[in-house]
Amino acid sequence: MKGRFIVFEGIDGSGKTTQAKLLAEYLEGQGKKAVLTAEPTKLPTGKALREALGGKVKKSECEMAVLFVQDRIAHNIVPEDGIEALVNAGVDVICDRYYYSTLAYQGQSTDYAWVKSMNLSCPEIRKPDLCIYIDLLPEQSLERISKGRDSVEIYENVETLTKVRDKFLSVIDDLSATDNIKVINGYRTPEEVAAEIQKTVNAL
Ligand code: TYD
Repeated sequence: MKGRFIVFEGIDGSGKTTQAKLLAEYLEGQGKKAVLTAEPTKLPTGKALREALGGKVKKSECEMAVLFVQDRIAHNIVPEDGIEALVNAGVDVICDRYYYSTLAYQGQSTDYAWVKSMNLSCPEIRKPDLCIYIDLLPEQSLERISKGRDSVEIYENVETLTKVRDKFLSVIDDLSATDNIKVINGYRTPEEVAAEIQKTVNAL
């Protein structure tokens, strides 16, 4: 039997990374094989992305969009521990960020239809069996991540996070007919959020 491919998305402070880990542990506890992975990857393409994201190397928005796609293809097809190989070997793959992030970020900064087509029409980019979007209001996420910062910075962050959240919600809306996306309220205890995620995954 093939493994399942499950993706986590959410704004900063949404708890997606924690929940991805908790799900991997839960599945292992059920006696399944589960692998946790993330994008940008640790492959050379992911390294190039991190250098560009950190401002070390200058890249245009379109170059970034293409590089995220290239990194995603490599992530899918790399032998042995690529998404494709693992899923085919019966391993559940849990990924922190995937093409929903590219559509939300690069889809806005370049051309949405172009970015959507590169990602969704590419034969070497697997469609997830489930995307879990952990939803949190920007104020709620900042309550968690910005204790001790001054109010001006927090205000700017609320604006930025609101824009990012709105982009994600519009991507979810756009893909709701073709992708299996579950929006989960992240403003609860990690245990409560994890329990709802487990229920959703068990129903797959
Ligand atoms: P990530 O390592 O998940 O950072 P964080 O833990 O801070 O969320 O992602 C790094 C950055 O890359 C993040 O700001 C979002 C951005 N990103 C894109 O713009 N497009 C993409 O396709 C992906 C996967 C990430």
